[in-house]
Amino acid sequence: MDIWRIRGGRRLEGVCFVQGSKNASLPILAASILGKTESELQNVPQLRDIDAALRILRHLGCEAEQRDNEVTINAGSVTRSAIPRKLMQEMRSSVIFMGALLARCGEARLCPPGGCQLGRRPIDLHLDALRRLGAEIEEDGDEIVCRAHRLRGTVLALPFPSVGATENIMLAATAAKGETVIRGAAREPEIVALQSYLRKAGVDVRGAGTDTVVIGGRREVQRLTHRILADRIVASTVACAAAAVGGSVELRGVEPGHFSTVLHFLKQAGCDIMCKNRSVWLRSGGELKGVGEVRTEPYPGFPTDAQPVLMAALLRARGRSVITETIFENRFRQVPELRRLGADITLAGQSAEIWGVDSLHGTVLNATDLRGGAAMIVAGLAAEGQTLVCDEGHIRRGYESFDARLRALGADVCLDH
Ligand code: EPZ
Repeated sequence: MDIWRIRGGRRLEGVCFVQGSKNASLPILAASILGKTESELQNVPQLRDIDAALRILRHLGCEAEQRDNEVTINAGSVTRSAIPRKLMQEMRSSVIFMGALLARCGEARLCPPGGCQLGRRPIDLHLDALRRLGAEIEEDGDEIVCRAHRLRGTVLALPFPSVGATENIMLAATAAKGETVIRGAAREPEIVALQSYLRKAGVDVRGAGTDTVVIGGRREVQRLTHRILADRIVASTVACAAAAVGGSVELRGVEPGHFSTVLHFLKQAGCDIMCKNRSVWLRSGGELKGVGEVRTEPYPGFPTDAQPVLMAALLRARGRSVITETIFENRFRQVPELRRLGADITLAGQSAEIWGVDSLHGTVLNATDLRGGAAMIVAGLAAEGQTLVCDEGHIRRGYESFDARLRALGADVCLDH
């Protein structure tokens, strides 16, 4: 059990070097098995989910190692096409290995993936699309067996721009005969990052970042180097923390456009924000005002992953804010915990109404999931007295050395394992 001890009220000041993106790294790790390629990946965060992906790669027969923020993979031989239940259930992203294994081995055997409990998280869009590419898929109880003697390129229209389904199709389609066109594709920066890795890996792919992605064939590439982009959700979390407690921080190494919707609401709440090249400067007096309506949407809309941390930043903001969650059915699990700090939040269906309170009071909280846990840390930084966040490891799934990064900005935080 991780115990985060936070003494709130210390302003955050200084430079934060934002870690590499978890959600960009994971599909790229799966993509590394498409050919007999040696991949050197830089700026990969050291996280539980990354460890889980590396263990899957080793189980499949690859050499895969992480040293600090560098990962090297040699996918010269892939000897297995089945992923054991225990490895599958460590994280949601394990499902992306389905498309990659299908492309490399013509077969994938796995069971439904794990990940944060955010409500129903089906994989029907992934399976439907792979079937349309020519895969035969049997769902036998809890086991999913996909086989494809020959995948055929086709036009696929996604009814919802699922990030994972878009990634899975991009990977499987690299082995298809002819072109595959994904209409209604997810447009997240992580999809663009996957495209950029795939191009280096010899794949003919274009359109990522728009709603139409086109994938052609792949030629064998021996060796490549790729740098993982900065994590826009970690950047958003630090920005929300500085906004909530007050201070002046520079987020370095980021792509400001990737989290401009989050910055938009922080500006509306009263923060001064300046973006230049690969930095964002945020200054806050710690006294925010409510922002009215916020609605989570697929990119380029407001990201669901930043919803809990923005909520935490708004708990003391004068006036009213309403957050509507449209992506996941159960992503307000942080709310009962935040109320225990004295927050005034009313839930009605998929909306949360927040009225800013004068002060929050530290207490003991239980992290419910990755971003919910991060929201509790943000709220704890803005609360009076001591907050303890007890966490079974959710936060470590997505935030690298987060306690040290916050301490470097002047926060009074310590993490006991
Ligand atoms: C990715 O999850 C991210 N994970 C999530 O980040 C993020 O919250 C999510 O995209 C939305 O932005 C990774 O990139 C590893 P989806 P993913 O498929 O791919 C429904 C975090 O905190 N759906 O776009 O699983 C689904 O139930 C994590 O870092 C179907 O109905 O998201 C959900 O309601 C959590 N059928 C919605 O679509 C399907 O087959 C969005 O899911 C697939 C999805």
